[in-house]
Amino acid sequence: MERIGIDRLPDFSDEIASMVRERSSWAYQARLFDVPQSLSPSPSGSDECQAVPVSFREIVSEIQDTSYLTHGIFYYPAKFIPHVPYYCVRHFCSEGEWVIDPFAGSGTVGLEAVLARRNAILIDINPLLKHIAELKINFRQVDVDQATLFKRIQAMLGSSDEFEPAWSNLEYWYPPEILAVLKRYWGWFHKNSSDVYAQMIACSLLRASRRFSWAEHKAPKLFRSRMKLRDIEQLLQTDWQATLNEFIWERAVDVLHRVRSLAHLTHRHSCRAIAIAGVDSASVDLTDLPEVGLLVTSPPYMQAQEYIRTFKLDLFWLGYSEETVKRIAQLEIPYRKAPQQFHSPTYSQIYEQVERPDLKDLMNAYFYYTTRALQNAATKLKAGGSMCVFVGNPKIDGIEIPTWRIIAEHFETLGFQMYGVYEDAIKNRQLFRGRRNKNPEGMPSEFLLVMRREG
Ligand SMILES: C[S@@+](CC[C@H](N)C(=O)[O-])C[C@H]1O[C@@H](n2cnc3c(N)ncnc32)[C@H](O)[C@@H]1O
Repeated sequence: MERIGIDRLPDFSDEIASMVRERSSWAYQARLFDVPQSLSPSPSGSDECQAVPVSFREIVSEIQDTSYLTHGIFYYPAKFIPHVPYYCVRHFCSEGEWVIDPFAGSGTVGLEAVLARRNAILIDINPLLKHIAELKINFRQVDVDQATLFKRIQAMLGSSDEFEPAWSNLEYWYPPEILAVLKRYWGWFHKNSSDVYAQMIACSLLRASRRFSWAEHKAPKLFRSRMKLRDIEQLLQTDWQATLNEFIWERAVDVLHRVRSLAHLTHRHSCRAIAIAGVDSASVDLTDLPEVGLLVTSPPYMQAQEYIRTFKLDLFWLGYSEETVKRIAQLEIPYRKAPQQFHSPTYSQIYEQVERPDLKDLMNAYFYYTTRALQNAATKLKAGGSMCVFVGNPKIDGIEIPTWRIIAEHFETLGFQMYGVYEDAIKNRQLFRGRRNKNPEGMPSEFLLVMRREG
């Protein structure tokens, strides 16, 4: 059998295990059920309403670590800080009710909903959500153990089944020797994909498949960097396969402890999340889904990097075809042309000031499809239910776009009333353009817009 470096793993796993146990212990998690302080409502409509400065990190001081519990098992750019859905779910809907997120990404809202004993409908154009939701949110098995995980990893390391991703460009991202090993590991996963341990390992394999590629893993955008080419060249001079196996093991153990903590916390809950992934929120048919008490979401950024492009490596390893990836990428907001002009008083004023035609189109597509997606999800909202939308005010052509105000004006014409808008300073939200520019659109803060559907 080839050199796998597995003999060193058990000691290492104990260290990781105790670290994770400490972070996700019962005592620590139990505090999360406290009721947060309240945000006071504004008496005026969107034309007069002013944003009230708040700090969700202070309001929800129970959360000390944004990647606590299973929030930490999947990487996703521009994730919600869990404090915001934590607050909204507990404050704007009741136990047992449903919550909907039409831009669910990695399912932050779903996990916060389930922890607070609410159910969630999660929708996203990115098919990855489907692979995330079970482990991250719906996992209820308390009896998973490290010894079985270890056996599964051994089986994977020794497996000879190969998986060939349906991607003509794959060789561009990997040296041949690493690619050959990853094909075997993913081959094992695809043969065992219904097994929960295999799913935990896949979570770790996704990270490894990026880390051990020529793709820059320190920036969300998918590109080959010179530094990464050099790092991989150096790695290949070492016992790289042992390093790869350790990496997979270390992360899989971390996932195991996190999902087991989640199961301990929620195994008596009957609530869960439904993930509808790989679909366009602006047009997906939601007829058969239950009524919800709350819509809470963070839409895409206006000028951010495409999500589907960012996740190409993951999607091909998970078995998606080039055709599927291309089709869904075309539906991503705001990279598709809107069939008609969006209108709102503030929007129209700003639209006139923007000079570049491509930026005018981008802005139009953004508001047209974002509001359609919100509107579609809001068809499930009960009378008197709340809608919480977390957005930034990016600059286009040097002009600041008051996104929350434009969305508020649109929904006021549809019978929604302002509850309030709360401005939260951005501390550190990893966006798309790389390490040096974590906040590419120069946004110092984000806004939580809260509206109520007329009862
Ligand atoms: C800011 S992210 C949401 C992150 C999420 N709140 C989290 O914590 O993981 C915006 C999401 O909008 C999704 N998106 C973009 N266009 C979409 C569309 N047409 N339909 C559904 N989702 C879309 C992207 O895939 C991305 O996951």
